[in-house]
Amino acid sequence: MPALDIREIGDDDVEDVAALWKTCGLTRPWNDPHADIAFARKCENATLLVGRLSGSIVASAMAGHDGHRGTVYYVTVDPDLQGKGLGRAIMAAAEDWLRKRGVWKLNLMVRESNTPVIDFYEALEYEREDRVNLAKWIDLSKKPSGKMP
Ligand SMILES: CC(C)(COP(=O)(O)OP(=O)(O)OC[C@H]1O[C@@H](n2cnc3c(N)ncnc32)[C@H](O)[C@@H]1OP(=O)(O)O)[C@@H](O)C(=O)NCCC(=O)NCCS
Repeated sequence: MPALDIREIGDDDVEDVAALWKTCGLTRPWNDPHADIAFARKCENATLLVGRLSGSIVASAMAGHDGHRGTVYYVTVDPDLQGKGLGRAIMAAAEDWLRKRGVWKLNLMVRESNTPVIDFYEALEYEREDRVNLAKWIDLSKKPSGKMP
């Protein structure tokens, strides 16, 4: 497997990244991928890394920090290429991006039922911590109606 070519997203990559997220089942009705990409791109403390093989986008990771901790979202690898080390590679790039900006700890959220992804992060030396994740929609116009799955 050739090395993943990892760079920050460019204007021409947006549609391919949105399509990758859709293929990987990462999009949700309340998260418009184009809006999420645009928001991350205009934020100084965030990046969206894309990984290419033979010119095609096959992996992504959105990384950012809030002035204290780092986090990642939209970590994904093309389903046909999973299990070959590409997820590890894009996460290493996200960690490097954060480390270079002075971040020393990364927190991330995974649904408790999503055991394959928890296993992936544990293989990358992420540890479970005894925390409760609380969230509040502070812009109610964006809040989805009904119960979120
Ligand atoms: C999670 C995901 C990014 C992992 O990417 P990947 O390229 O398959 O992972 P890698 O091949 O780099 O695996 C890295 C390590 O994690 C382990 N791992 C990966 N998937 C695993 C799984 N389903 N179960 C157990 N271990 C797993 C691998 O064994 C490997 O460990 P090793 O290096 O010690 O052998 C990929 O499966 C994916 O895109 N899933 C769908 C999208 C998603 O749910 N993303 C996370 C939410 S944002």
